[in-house]
Amino acid sequence: MHDRDATPTPLDRTGRRAIAQRYPGRLWRGYAHGKLAGDPVYAAAAALLAGAAPHPVLDIGCGLGLLGQYLHQCGLLHGYLGIDLDARRIEAGRIAAAALAPPPLRLECGDATQLPAFHGHVAMLDVLHYLPAAGQAALLRTAAARLAPEGVLLIRNVLREPNWRFHATRVEEWFLRVSGQMRVGAQHYPAADEMRATLEPLGLSVTIRPLRGRTPFNSYLVVARRPG
Ligand SMILES: C[S@@+](CC[C@H](N)C(=O)[O-])C[C@H]1O[C@@H](n2cnc3c(N)ncnc32)[C@H](O)[C@@H]1O
Repeated sequence: MHDRDATPTPLDRTGRRAIAQRYPGRLWRGYAHGKLAGDPVYAAAAALLAGAAPHPVLDIGCGLGLLGQYLHQCGLLHGYLGIDLDARRIEAGRIAAAALAPPPLRLECGDATQLPAFHGHVAMLDVLHYLPAAGQAALLRTAAARLAPEGVLLIRNVLREPNWRFHATRVEEWFLRVSGQMRVGAQHYPAADEMRATLEPLGLSVTIRPLRGRTPFNSYLVVARRPG
């Protein structure tokens, strides 16, 4: 059993800036800095993993690898493999990883529907809704199969609910798609019950709580733990 109360202090401005400076070009650096400053998901993930077993992390749809950089900066990384469809983001993430010696992060171009072999914790931050409903259930099962004993499956996603936050999220996704910032479009927003219905029969204990920070979006943190 690991100490679940060992919550690290969120990275301060200096720590966030150190990460952002590793990325190539003003645009990626600005994006990384803004995202780390405004999105509470990285600090929430660090808090969870600080109290979890010291396993490596498979980050599905890793984008720039910001989660790996954040965990490394907090001294909480025990190995990291990030995979993403978007070659531009992987390339920028590799350059940032190479700024650390020896590079503690591995980033690979790949599709979430074809996960590599892995054993540890698994993260999926804002990725699930880019897959169709059936693809999501299949991905949750293959991700769960990669959890080590006491492994944590950490998912942040917008959940489908009849409220204005959900509609604000759909407008934002439409903008990301038409502006070319996202190469794939949203396909299906899961409901909380759908997530539980897939994860709990796999023997995982599931908790779901809002994680929006100061954004208007309907984001939740779903944590599924494999018993020891
Ligand atoms: C909103 S971004 C989140 C990036 C990262 N998880 C983070 O929190 O910084 C969503 C990412 O999912 C990736 N993605 C979407 N569908 C994917 C798939 N089928 N396989 C791998 N990556 C995918 C996109 O390329 C994009 O980088």
